[in-house]
Amino acid sequence: MKTRVAVIFGGHSVEHEVSIISGLQALGALDTAKYEAFPLYISKDNRFYVGDILREIAHFRDMPACLAQATEVLPVARDGCVQLIRHPAKRFGNPVVAVFDVAIPVVHGTNVEDGTLMGLLEMLNIPYASCDVTSSALGMDKFAMKAALKQAGVPVLEALSFTGKEYAADSEAVCDAIEQRIGYPVIVKPVNLGSSVGISKATSRSSLIEAMDLAVSFSARVLVERAVPNLREINCSVLGDYEQARASACEEPLNAEDILTFGDKYLSGNGGKSGGSKGMTDLKRRCPAELPEGMTEQVQQLAVKTFQALGCLGVARIDFLNDKETGELWVNEINTIPGSLSFYLWQEVGVSFAELMDELIRLAFKRQREREALTFTYESNILSGTSFGAKGSKGKA
Ligand SMILES: Nc1ncnc2c1ncn2[C@@H]1O[C@H](COP(=O)(O)OP(=O)(O)O)[C@@H](O)[C@H]1O
Ligand SMILES: [Mg+2]
Repeated sequence: MKTRVAVIFGGHSVEHEVSIISGLQALGALDTAKYEAFPLYISKDNRFYVGDILREIAHFRDMPACLAQATEVLPVARDGCVQLIRHPAKRFGNPVVAVFDVAIPVVHGTNVEDGTLMGLLEMLNIPYASCDVTSSALGMDKFAMKAALKQAGVPVLEALSFTGKEYAADSEAVCDAIEQRIGYPVIVKPVNLGSSVGISKATSRSSLIEAMDLAVSFSARVLVERAVPNLREINCSVLGDYEQARASACEEPLNAEDILTFGDKYLSGNGGKSGGSKGMTDLKRRCPAELPEGMTEQVQQLAVKTFQALGCLGVARIDFLNDKETGELWVNEINTIPGSLSFYLWQEVGVSFAELMDELIRLAFKRQREREALTFTYESNILSGTSFGAKGSKGKA
């Protein structure tokens, strides 16, 4: 029997549409001789749908019409796989609409990529081809990620972090701290968004206030770090797990110096709420990046180190900042489920998209086997043989 694969995309995230594109690309790349793969779409209001109508990107243009032809389902764990049960149930007929043995999450952004979907898959006890709950959550929180990487000896920019409440209570004190401890120019960003949403550069007290006001409107916590001058951005993908991981080719997004226009691009005219498309997929890029002698290897090594320090699995993309004058290099962020699964960076080093998908599925089953070898239950039932009175567990240790 072929392995039954659910490619999961969508979700309650500003990067919903980009995820539909990435998800359908991944679905199309799976080898039909080996897998019986189907789309499992999560709508913006977190409902699950299956159906052939969801295989075609054009059908998503008219969402209500598309979903009217799809089938809403609920996932249920049964006998080592997940059954997708028709919802609402019909009185007659088989309620099981589809079954899968392994999931490939191709979701981007908060409420899905940040560990939320992984938590659901964990509870369903199904192998899945992405970072686990912890590494997904670490990867989504730019401040927590820096802390973990610092601990592992990976270079990251020092940053200050403030809650929106702290800033609202005493914005003067927050700005004073930023000026004293970092100094202009600074970059202000929400800790957990993507696509440059809510990010801006400040060069003075007045622009700092604007940048902080914007960032706190998007996230309960913001991060402030110095703006790297003579900026070059370099991205590199990593594929593997804690034991074995390798790096792809490096790419250089080419309009890096236009960071200030990112805000204009995403925020103008729509009140800043719509998010826009995934920054990276819209950018011009040079691939492979043309870097000074030795830097490609340095980036690749640091990318693998980052991936493993955060406990990642599957395919991720690590984005770097480089000062072209001094040669300094910092890890800026990790995308635990990168746009288009970074397949174009793998093609560059001779790994086809189909091979990338094979590897993801292999890794998902490998982790599941390793987990099954661990003990998750303790063979004792403290509830048997004990008579609990109204006082509860009085004798607990
Ligand atoms: N410290 C920095 N110095 C200079 N530019 C930066 C810095 N941090 C971010 N940027 C610019 O802002 C863009 C978006 O920031 P990033 O941290 O990658 O957030 P996102 O998750 O939205 O992609 C980067 O691609 C880069 O162009
Ligand atoms: Mg980025």
